Amino acid sequence: MIRFIEDPDEKRKISREVLEALTQWFEVEESREQYIRESAGWPFWAAYENDALAGFLCLKQTGDATAELAVMGVKKDYHRNGYGRRLFAVAKDYAVQKGYSFIQVKTVRSGMYEDYDITNEFYRSLGFKELEVLPEYWDEANPCQIYVMNLKSAVNTIATRHSYRGKFSDESVPREDLETIARCGIDAPSGCNKQTTDLIVVDDKDTLDKIKSLIDPPVAKTAPAMIVVLTRRINAYRDRCFAIQDYSAAIENMLLAIVELGYQSCWYEGHITDEDRICDKIASVLGVPGEYDVVCILPVGKALDDFHAPSKKAFSERVRFNHFGG
Ligand SMILES: Cc1cc2nc3c(=O)[nH]c(=O)nc-3n(C[C@H](O)[C@H](O)[C@H](O)COP(=O)(O)O)c2cc1C
Repeated sequence: MIRFIEDPDEKRKISREVLEALTQWFEVEESREQYIRESAGWPFWAAYENDALAGFLCLKQTGDATAELAVMGVKKDYHRNGYGRRLFAVAKDYAVQKGYSFIQVKTVRSGMYEDYDITNEFYRSLGFKELEVLPEYWDEANPCQIYVMNLKSAVNTIATRHSYRGKFSDESVPREDLETIARCGIDAPSGCNKQTTDLIVVDDKDTLDKIKSLIDPPVAKTAPAMIVVLTRRINAYRDRCFAIQDYSAAIENMLLAIVELGYQSCWYEGHITDEDRICDKIASVLGVPGEYDVVCILPVGKALDDFHAPSKKAFSERVRFNHFGG
């Protein structure tokens, strides 16, 4: 179980327990105590197996755009049980939600964390890239390696996108950002380049209120903006219509752009295209011509609530190499 630790006393207790295990870095008691005091103010997660502490991680802000993985450790007895990955996944989600662009970690030679050791290979396997070596950081024999992860790379944005169904802040979304999101939508591939997807970006409060009043049960009630996705179901060639594939690609591009710009959203299609045809009522409010269908709405806004990745099947259950059987 991964727990976000809020209580500063509990953070201090965990830090003390863990940092006491560090023999070299914190050999000076004073610096250890200072670190423990400081880390009580940082976002902090702990992993537990039953009631035993298996690992921990805290993040520290080092610049407007960068969060540093200040300390991370997983006890040797619990290695290879996924605690490191799970701790990092929640911390990464947090960093994305807070709008950080980078996470960095300064690592040291293997063995320094003793019981809580994490290797450089582990950071590389998470997707960190080596940035530079600071030989003078510790001493020449034990150079410090800085690893960096660009949270705004496509691969990371994909990994940190999750459907958000919570409350939005009432902060409006600048037109510039809405245009960027919409451009990512229309830049998507389309079958035979037929470009069957059109968009209506709604940021006018009265229009938003009219749309929201049609959605029953309500969703995206607090969203300060919304993108309404339209499709024209025309054939790409012969009797082949790729309209669904076209708008799906456009929607996914927009979801990723939304997350990368620091907003959240959810692909609401099932909800509005069911038997009650909320989509047709939305089309009527927006004056959409008959040859277009409204197929989806994407709310856009800053998230107020926490959210987590839904559980998904294991990689190996869905991905095979070279042959289905193995
Ligand atoms: C075609 C399609 C229709 C969807 N319709 C809805 C919907 O009507 N309401 C909703 O809450 N989520 C909807 N979703 C979001 C899915 O529930 C969500 O993607 C899925 O649970 C996986 O979670 P994730 O997006 O966080 O990975 C839809 C997703 C797709 C691809």
